[in-house]
Amino acid sequence: MPHAFNSQEIEDLLAKNNGQYLVFENDQPKFVVLDPVRYPHFVNFDKNRPNVLVTGGAGYIGSHVVLELLAANLNPIIIDNLSNCAVPNLGCPFIVGDLEKTEVLDKVFEQYNIQAVVHLAGSIIVEESVLLPEKYFHNNVVAGINLLNTMLRHGVNKLIYSSSAAVYGSPRYVPIDENHATEPLNPYGETKLIFEKIVNWYVKAHDLNAVMFRYFNAAGADPHGRAGEKHFIETHLIPRVFQVANKELDSVKIFGHDYPTADGTAIRDYVHVADIAKAHALAIAKLEEDTGSFTYNIGTGKGYSVQEIVDKVVEVTERMVPIEQHERRAGDPPILVADSKKAQKELGLELKHSDLDTIIRTAWNWHKQAFAKPAVPVEEKAEETAST
Ligand code: UFG
Repeated sequence: MPHAFNSQEIEDLLAKNNGQYLVFENDQPKFVVLDPVRYPHFVNFDKNRPNVLVTGGAGYIGSHVVLELLAANLNPIIIDNLSNCAVPNLGCPFIVGDLEKTEVLDKVFEQYNIQAVVHLAGSIIVEESVLLPEKYFHNNVVAGINLLNTMLRHGVNKLIYSSSAAVYGSPRYVPIDENHATEPLNPYGETKLIFEKIVNWYVKAHDLNAVMFRYFNAAGADPHGRAGEKHFIETHLIPRVFQVANKELDSVKIFGHDYPTADGTAIRDYVHVADIAKAHALAIAKLEEDTGSFTYNIGTGKGYSVQEIVDKVVEVTERMVPIEQHERRAGDPPILVADSKKAQKELGLELKHSDLDTIIRTAWNWHKQAFAKPAVPVEEKAEETAST
């Protein structure tokens, strides 16, 4: 759902970002183009470093990618329509905009000497995609084609694309390697697969090189607390369980308890977002050396069930997490676990943060400060229950 800006928010947005242009469409600000050379207080912009456009850079994975690009001495420039997240505060140029607006993209590419594009923007909710496939085909395919065509027009030939494990569908074997059949179970996965194929054809036909990442379940938060998961609409398991631990929700629904797994709940491969972000910096370095198109899984090779995640959150947070058994969610495969040896071998990717304990602890540290709310410790809750 698009965010409706009020006038105070717009003023704050401009003040925060020293916007050079603000274009309105139907009373909505459509983009802010910033000139970082004229506004040198952008602490994280150095005109001698290569510029990398990060679409969706205000979002959960995007904000971690931005931090990692800064660490790799690159200049991230964010474009995001803020449809499911807030204004980023990462000290780098930020453009509010939709990717299907050619005039916005052209201005960005004209203003900045973009060397590479990290394309993360898109709609990401599996269940919503089953109900509104048209939204997913538009945001994940049509807008993406516009981005590719703009890159070609401006001679930008390096693309890092965020695809998804959802391209595989129900696994025929686990762990899933990149040669596994691609049979998406939902429109979300279908749009990711279609766009991968489009990129591959563009690479064959044009001067374009690409690394495409099939993420498994991104989780965790920046170990230094600078970024984390904060969607306007939250559907993902770990933040939902935290919402219950933090008393923002009464209980967590477990979708499906009759899957063919040891405890009957679905299994996913949770990989730390900081490790995912690192892969993007490595991919940009790879495209400095190699040409062509490369597809990599990013996951740990180890799966955890929904029930195991709930149990781990209870252990880490020391809070009560009441659960409700619920029907399976439409479009959900029973198990997704990655074989990501290819990324480890070819990109030198190391999964330094992806053990479940680090994932849950970093995410909980972020969640507590991002959604500060009073909460009841396990012992108190136990006393309350005992006295009623
Ligand atoms: N789940 C619950 N209750 C909830 C939320 C989720 O039981 O309140 C279950 C889901 O049914 C699923 C598991 O927890 O079995 C994980 O669900 P998420 O919504 O956290 O993540 P998904 O596996 O559905 O999807 C995520 C990304 C996709 C990506 C996929 C790849 O959102 O973009 O991982 O594994 F494609």
